[in-house]
Amino acid sequence: MASSSLTIAATVATLLTSLCVTLTYTRATPDATLSRNKTSGYRGYRGYGVQDAWGSIMWTRFPMEAFPLYLTPYIEAGKIEEESYSGYITVDKRYQSNMFFWFFPAEVPDGAPVLLWLNGGPVKRREISWTKLFSMIYVDNPVGVGYSYTRDDAGLSTSMDDVSRNLYSVLTQFFKMFPEFSENEFYIGGQSYAGKYVPSLGYYIHQQNHGQHPPDVHINFKGIYLGAGYCSPEKMMPVFPDFLFNMGFISDYRRRELRETYTKLIRDGLSGKNLLSPSEYLHRFFSKPSYSANHVLGSEATVTSKLHLVDIWMNEASTRAALHVAWARYPKVYAHSYVVRNSLKHEFLQDTVRENAFLMDNYKVLHYSGNLDVIVNVPMTEAFLSSVPWSGQAAYNRSDLTPWWIGKVVGYFTQIANFTRVIVRNSGHMLPYDTPEWALKMMERFVFDIPFETNAHYMDYYS
Ligand SMILES: *[C@@H]1O[C@H](CO)[C@@H](O)[C@H](O)[C@H]1NC(C)=O
Ligand SMILES: *[C@@H]1O[C@H](CO)[C@@H](O)[C@H](O)[C@H]1NC(C)=O
Ligand SMILES: *[C@@H]1O[C@H](CO)[C@@H](O)[C@H](O)[C@H]1NC(C)=O
Repeated sequence: MASSSLTIAATVATLLTSLCVTLTYTRATPDATLSRNKTSGYRGYRGYGVQDAWGSIMWTRFPMEAFPLYLTPYIEAGKIEEESYSGYITVDKRYQSNMFFWFFPAEVPDGAPVLLWLNGGPVKRREISWTKLFSMIYVDNPVGVGYSYTRDDAGLSTSMDDVSRNLYSVLTQFFKMFPEFSENEFYIGGQSYAGKYVPSLGYYIHQQNHGQHPPDVHINFKGIYLGAGYCSPEKMMPVFPDFLFNMGFISDYRRRELRETYTKLIRDGLSGKNLLSPSEYLHRFFSKPSYSANHVLGSEATVTSKLHLVDIWMNEASTRAALHVAWARYPKVYAHSYVVRNSLKHEFLQDTVRENAFLMDNYKVLHYSGNLDVIVNVPMTEAFLSSVPWSGQAAYNRSDLTPWWIGKVVGYFTQIANFTRVIVRNSGHMLPYDTPEWALKMMERFVFDIPFETNAHYMDYYS
């Protein structure tokens, strides 16, 4: 198994090297590098793995196994040139903290909304790339994961405010570097633990845009999109076992016992009586009886089993050269995340209820889930959403889901004012990976305010 994986990695490396038609790169001096150079040599590259601090549980990375397949259509179409830009942006000079970004302009970039994705990445595959509609910015976040690094551990984030400040610095510098994109609509999103980062950053951008002093760069912030957002341990964890029970993973007795255990763990942590480390919570919440490994779909397991290929590929000299990270190393998946995670210890049980409420009242907000996601399952997100005190809360509490129909039922949705809730069928935690076509259609409807399709005839069966 190990040797066949190595063979795949070697094949990938060879294929990529052979595609390096114009391998010119800038040698990054990572302390202060803003490189606007194209990321050469990776034209046709179709996937991107970002390591996140919570990765051992959240699996927010993408598989590397299918590279060779992904390149062919581009070669055949003569479309070897896929423009992208990457490099470091220094966010804290004191500690020499630098964040790595990778930017893919939309196929037709003029006026296309710009989307930031935190944690993992929507799969860019053959015909279904998000760059068909949007310009995409990926950032290795927070400092200390992926290629983003700091020379001093004091540069690691200890709160969502630190995370937001760093990301805001990335964004303002980014839009200075790419002013032609700064007028376009801007959305931020991500999945899983990004349920903390994204609402916090959205709120932070709002405050900067509306502060006493006009910011040097105005970000044309329109809204947020979150997949399986882990927004509130307190509201979500007690109902985590409900899904496990309904799927037949645990007994009813165990469900009740777990609900009590989780409730007490969180109560004791929040009251300061017994605050554990993030790793300990992750272990107690998810890993013990292997619930999280009990995937309903195969995709999470597939991705997890390929993670070591991410390390190998990200650390290839040619990869690092083309991405302008020079000597920076991509840390082994799981290795460094422990330190990053621990520095956010006091944040781990906190929620983003207030930020979500504010954004739902003032911006466009999408919360989506895969109906077969175990780890941040639908009941968890619903328990969180009904607790958010925004002006549409009562209406949301009384709402029902409407089938979303594209030739068949592909999911369910609810829309109240500027808030959109979508549950997509046959998808797990990584919805854009499991059902890429529907994921992109969902984003298109949300961003461009296109109504979700229904089928009156189909609806009749239920009335
Ligand atoms: C971009 O790369 C070229 C070499 O290919 C180099 O001469 C130039 O300085 C680089 N520009 C930046 C902004 O790094
Ligand atoms: C909405 O439902 C939640 C959960 O049942 C409840 O706590 C909240 O008070 C309700 N809010 C409104 C405005 O109906
Ligand atoms: C929806 O958001 C827009 C701004 O994007 C705002 O003008 C409008 O009032 C909002 N609508 C509601 C019903 O909140």
